[in-house]
Amino acid sequence: MIDIIHSLDILRGRIRAWKQQGLRVGLVPTMGNLHSGHYSLVRLARAHADRVVASVFVNPTQFGPHEDFARYPRTPEADADGLATAGCDVMWAPSVETMYPLGVDNAVRMSVPGVTGVLEGAQRPGHFDGVATVVSRLFLQVQPDVAAFGLKDYQQLAVIRHFVRDLAFPVQLLAGPIVRDDDGLALSSRNQYLTPEQRRSAPLIHATLQRMREQSLAGLPRGMVEAQARETLASNDFEVDYAVVRTPTLDVPPDGGGPRVALIAARLGTTRLIDNLEFGSSS
Ligand code: PAF
Repeated sequence: MIDIIHSLDILRGRIRAWKQQGLRVGLVPTMGNLHSGHYSLVRLARAHADRVVASVFVNPTQFGPHEDFARYPRTPEADADGLATAGCDVMWAPSVETMYPLGVDNAVRMSVPGVTGVLEGAQRPGHFDGVATVVSRLFLQVQPDVAAFGLKDYQQLAVIRHFVRDLAFPVQLLAGPIVRDDDGLALSSRNQYLTPEQRRSAPLIHATLQRMREQSLAGLPRGMVEAQARETLASNDFEVDYAVVRTPTLDVPPDGGGPRVALIAARLGTTRLIDNLEFGSSS
């Protein structure tokens, strides 16, 4: 049984009761239209907490003026069923008015420097500040001990790590591994828009990331690794936004070893896919 809660007072009452019993609370923030990647985050949170809240809220402040907030898929009944099966206790589904009581235009917003401006952030100005704005509100509403985010949205997690550290939010962040189909394609709600032919090409993104990792670990200069990745994808009908190797905080890495992440964003037709692969060690 899952409780679907729309009122902040009721949510707060529930959280207070759990905390009085000494229970640890986990949060999985989502925008709904859930797939098995999201459910794996619920199971991850469950492994670190006694009770799990999944928020389902399509957040207007992370959509740009030309992005279609109104047409974002909303499937609350299916989401509630899937969350219940995954072992979630509460689906927190606030309205826009509950999340932004003074109105979206009057909302106090987060502004996270640096990491928000590159890669995905360069394509979608303001997007990550909107994500930080809503996630910080969710942290204040749910007061979770742990919160789980997917590594697929690598930059989103880097932004959240940044503000959690800077504002000393008392929450432990859990990074859920990327869930992939058998051929390597990272699960995403956007995969459903691929034609059968595009779907057959799409795993090349993961294969290219693996090659970027191997070449980097073998000492090939970063510029060459990135250029070869772009070329491979472009010659297979991908339109490449970026194919780069970065540090975990998404800075351009110095020469030599250390933790790295290869990231790709590329379009197949009108569908834009993102994926990444961590490698290297911190020692
Ligand atoms: O990853 C998402 O679905 C959203 O960006 C998040 C973290 C739920 C914030 O709206």
